[in-house]
Parts: sequence; structure tokens; C-alpha cells
Amino acid sequence: MAAADALQTPDAPPTMSPRASRLIRRRYSCRSYRAEPIGAARQRRLAESMAANTTGPLGSQARFALVAATPGDDSALRRLGTYGFIKGATGFIVGAARRAPNDLEDYGYLLERVVLSATGLDLGTCWLGGTFTRSTFVRRFGGLERDETMPAVVSVGLIGDDGSERIREREEGTRRLPSSELFFERGFGEPLDLAAGGAAGYAKALEAVRMAPSATNKQPWRLVRDGTAWHFYLRRTKGYGKGSALFTLLRIADLQRVDLGIAMCHFELVARERGLAGDWVVRDPGISLPGKDTQYVVTWVAAS
Ligand SMILES: Cc1cc2nc3c(=O)[nH]c(=O)nc-3n(C[C@H](O)[C@H](O)[C@H](O)COP(=O)(O)O)c2cc1C
Repeated sequence: MAAADALQTPDAPPTMSPRASRLIRRRYSCRSYRAEPIGAARQRRLAESMAANTTGPLGSQARFALVAATPGDDSALRRLGTYGFIKGATGFIVGAARRAPNDLEDYGYLLERVVLSATGLDLGTCWLGGTFTRSTFVRRFGGLERDETMPAVVSVGLIGDDGSERIREREEGTRRLPSSELFFERGFGEPLDLAAGGAAGYAKALEAVRMAPSATNKQPWRLVRDGTAWHFYLRRTKGYGKGSALFTLLRIADLQRVDLGIAMCHFELVARERGLAGDWVVRDPGISLPGKDTQYVVTWVAAS
């Protein structure tokens, strides 16, 4: 058995969980899976992670469940609609967000924590916000309460043969916007100098934001640092998400808000890993915006 296979036995997950920054580097959207079901030990660890992630940093509630194939039942999930984008997934992490002002950001934050725990179990994952048949997943989830939505799901399973290629693509760094277009100092005019004083300690946390998954890889997050405050903004992609006729028609969630929550998760995990404490607050600093497409979302206030 090759070393890579040894890492990926259907059961016997790794015993130590790697640091968040390593998991963030390792994660990529896996769209091809091996046929073996996810073993019982890994399923247990995923269940623990789902149970530990039900209240978001902005106060809203979510609940998650794993819909997994059982041994000898490899066709059971084939009927779940992913329009052919996902090949052979043996599991899906499905979830519900309870409606609240920041429900979609919290949902992104919480589900990304579960995604990273799956990465730590050597499982492949892929967020699915547009290409899944919502009604089928809702049924497998056992239904939604009246005040709940299912904004996105995540396919999960043992990594198939698309792994090494995608990682190479990622390493070339060609698929992410440069830091100078994402991170700013005091206002949107001045790119953040990552090597300078206060920002330097956060370089790894910012890189983790840059590496975050986002719907159609639009990377809508923008950050403005002002002293100990890191303000997170959403720069909406034109014709995408909220207000778009297609999204309304297909009842697709406002996925760029989910993207923001994922970025919050990456930023916080890596900041804390580096001993940088802080808290989330929603308090618009009133910084002048570069355009109507940009809106304030949340601030990380570093403990000084
Ligand atoms: C909220 C959200 C929804 C997504 N929806 C889909 C989807 O419906 N189908 C799909 O194939 N990938 C989907 N993706 C995966 C993105 O395309 C992917 O994260 C992005 O291209 C960056 O690639 P990486 O995840 O490999 O770093 C989604 C990602 C996010 C965060």
C-alpha cells in the first residue's frame, strides 16, 4: 500500500489533529471520491465536530447532520442531486440555519469549522451552494423547521484521484486575488503593508482568508485594518447572489454572505493559533466605501 493510501484507510482516522493553518493549506474543493464509505470512527469524529458547532460568533443557531452511505450501499447517495459536478461522494454534511440577522455568516463560519475537522481526518470536502437539489437534501435531513433554511451543503468522502493535481494548482497561487486587492489600511485607498508593525503578526491569518473557499471562487472578502480593529467587508459580485433574478428563481441563498463567514472562521482560527486573542463585534466604523457593491459586515477587535 502506498503511503498516501495508508493515510486514507476507510477507518482509523489520524489520532492528532493538525494545526488550523495546516488544515487550511491542505483543504481544496474535492470533486472526485473513492467508493469506500466513511468508516465509523471518522463518522463519530465528524458527529462530534457538528455537535460542537451550533452557535455562531454572531449569535445565530445552526444544526448539522451527516448523510452517509453504509457499507454495501454505495448507490444510496447517487440519487442525491449534485448535477454531476461531484463524483462518487459517500457522504454529505447537510445543515439548517435558523433565520437571524447574521445567519448566513454564522452558517459559513460553523460549517467551515466542520469542513476543517474533516480535512484533519484526511477526508475530502466540497462546499455546494448552487449545484444541489435542495428538496432532496432537506428530505434526507428530516425536514426543516419553519424558521430554518438550508443555505449550502458539503460533500465529503475519501479523496479520489483529483487530489494531487488540484493541490499543485493551488500551490502555484494562480487562483487567488493578490493581497493588495483584498487587504487595506485605515481606508480602501491604501493597500495594507503586510510587513509593517501591527499587521505583521496577522500575515498568516490574512493568508488564511485568501485561501478560503468561496462560491465560484469570487473571493468577495475585503478587510480594512484600523489599529486593533480588523473590519470585514463584503464586495458583492455584480449579478450574483442577492437581488439577482437567477438566484431568486432557483432559490439559491445569498452565498457571498456564507463566504464572509468562512473567511471569519479562517482568520479567527489562525489568529488564535498564533496567540492573538480578540472578539467579533458588529459596529460599522463608517469608513467611506469604494462603491455601492461594498458593505460592512463585522469587525475583529484584537485584545491589546
Ligand atoms: C458557499 C460556497 C458554495 C459553493 N458552491 C459550489 C457548487 O455549487 N458547486 C461546486 O462545484 N463548487 C462550489 N463551491 C466551491 C468553490 O467553487 C471553490 O471553493 C472555489 O473555486 C475555490 O477553490 P478551492 O475550494 O479548491 O480552494 C462553493 C464554495 C463555497 C464557499
